[in-house]
Amino acid sequence: MCGIVGYVGGRGAQKILVDGLQRLEYRGYDSAGIVTLGGGATLLREKGKVVELEKLVSEHETPDKIGIGHTRWATHGEPSQQNAHPHQAGDIYLVHNGIIENYKELKQELPDHEFTSDTDSEVLAALIDSFYDNETSLESAVTQALQLVEGTYGIAVLSTREDDKIVVARSGSPLIIGVGQDETIIASDASALVGHTTNAIYLNDGEIAVCKAGSVELTDLASHPLSAKVEKIEADMSAIQKQGYDHFLLKEIMEQPITLQSTLNGRVIKAEARAQLGGLNMSAEELQEIEHVVIIGCGTAYYAGMLASYYLEQLVDGLTVDVEIASEMRYRSFHLPKDTVALVVSQSGETADTLACLREVKARGVKTLGVINAVGSTIAREVDGGVYVHAGPEISVASTKAFTSQVAAMTIFAIQLAQAKGAGAQELGKYIDELAAMPDEIQKVLEAHKDQIRDVATKYAHYEHALFLGRDTLFPVALEGALKLKEISYIHAEGYAGGELKHGPLALVDDRFFEVMLLQENALLDKSLSNLAEMNARGGHVIAITNSDRQIDAEAVIHIDTKQELLVPIVLNVVQQLFAYYVAVARGNDVDQPRNLAKSVTVE
Ligand code: G6P
Repeated sequence: MCGIVGYVGGRGAQKILVDGLQRLEYRGYDSAGIVTLGGGATLLREKGKVVELEKLVSEHETPDKIGIGHTRWATHGEPSQQNAHPHQAGDIYLVHNGIIENYKELKQELPDHEFTSDTDSEVLAALIDSFYDNETSLESAVTQALQLVEGTYGIAVLSTREDDKIVVARSGSPLIIGVGQDETIIASDASALVGHTTNAIYLNDGEIAVCKAGSVELTDLASHPLSAKVEKIEADMSAIQKQGYDHFLLKEIMEQPITLQSTLNGRVIKAEARAQLGGLNMSAEELQEIEHVVIIGCGTAYYAGMLASYYLEQLVDGLTVDVEIASEMRYRSFHLPKDTVALVVSQSGETADTLACLREVKARGVKTLGVINAVGSTIAREVDGGVYVHAGPEISVASTKAFTSQVAAMTIFAIQLAQAKGAGAQELGKYIDELAAMPDEIQKVLEAHKDQIRDVATKYAHYEHALFLGRDTLFPVALEGALKLKEISYIHAEGYAGGELKHGPLALVDDRFFEVMLLQENALLDKSLSNLAEMNARGGHVIAITNSDRQIDAEAVIHIDTKQELLVPIVLNVVQQLFAYYVAVARGNDVDQPRNLAKSVTVE
């Protein structure tokens, strides 16, 4: 959740650290801090967003060439200056991402340290300091301390006594080391490295690195040297900038025609009525044998999996499909049938529950495939094969373009599976055509309806409750619509299957609520229209979002003109994304960094 950045080289560290923290701010934003070394330590910490820290830094500028920084999402201890990282113990300064589970026990063993924060992280700083005598190197003290730690960590540690190195280590929380020309930059996320270097070492669990201006030395926790694999990171500055939009969220919604095209490129071959994913690491025979698919994710990724599960069922005869919330599944005594493949869906590739669930599934000998956006992320590295959705960096906390690309990627997987099991071009053609046409269809909808969606959203922005309803493939879309709205507008919103309306939610319909009814031109339309009539009869305030040309009796109707039929839910979801965005804007909220949330949930 928290963001970590570190720098050692020939340039001024403060600016690079603050700039890096700004790029990582979406990971946590309740307080931030940096420490730099240059004859002594300059520790600057501030409650609130990185912009507050930036002001403080401008009053205490130093030419220091080495430092570490942190932006926090509070777990232990309220957001405050005292609880902000870096934490100090003796000569040691530490930034930490993760949770030290046995911090209370460890704290009792450290009576000499005067604790000034409520954090588990300060305990780790003090523990390292307790091993750091005059004969011990910083890396050795860190190694000894980590042997005693239970929990998860990504850490960067500095010492005023050895002010040419940063020691970093990871277990469960990501860390990347950017290797530049006579400089080394550390970050918990590749976006902080963009513009500095394209060469990076992804630290693995159980590894420690000593980073200096011109070198990186890697060892395991037993101090055995390891060889470092330098990989290329692909991202450009434009991908992590707003590019004229008011918010990243709006940019990410509006760029979906392009990002979805990147998901489809080379994978949907319309001329041959064929689809293929390159990285599955499975032969056609292995695909043929798949009888069951389990899809695992959290939040929006889970809903993307849920929508894709309908397409898998529709496309692959005889296939059984389950969709699981990772935080639940990981603790269950679950059993998976023979010939199962698991699709592990995650934008960040770092979500702690999803990662833990992946490991549980692997331990049962089940083949795992990732559906991941962040290249080089932990889940992407641990799965047996899979697909990068190539939606580009998603900065806004609420996930939008990743959802669209995840559903598309899993639909391509469904087509490939159907092909392997003998389905002909005729059966699959309609899905392939609709996937290929989807970027243009989304573009058309965004252009034609942006203003109308804004007007409707502004009109309904004062409500405090909302109900989203949809049937069949529109049910997961209703759930995702409710999630998007609650994340960024703070309106209490629930998603429901249309058929469940009479089993409870109908009792809620009154003037405090508005209802979003998702309507698709298909065999279930009449049933959904009956639900709509039932709400109207009880004084509901219904907004219908639909592709149907029928006369629809609702308070507001957003009618979209699209050629999509089977995949129309993906298009309706884009409408909902814009709707949630404009509601949040009308309410004056911090759209990109909603209160209490973080983008990459690397703790349980
Ligand atoms: C957080 C984010 C959501 C995201 C979920 C799963 O809650 O705010 O937008 O859907 O985590 O994240 P993942 O990176 O695994 O897709």
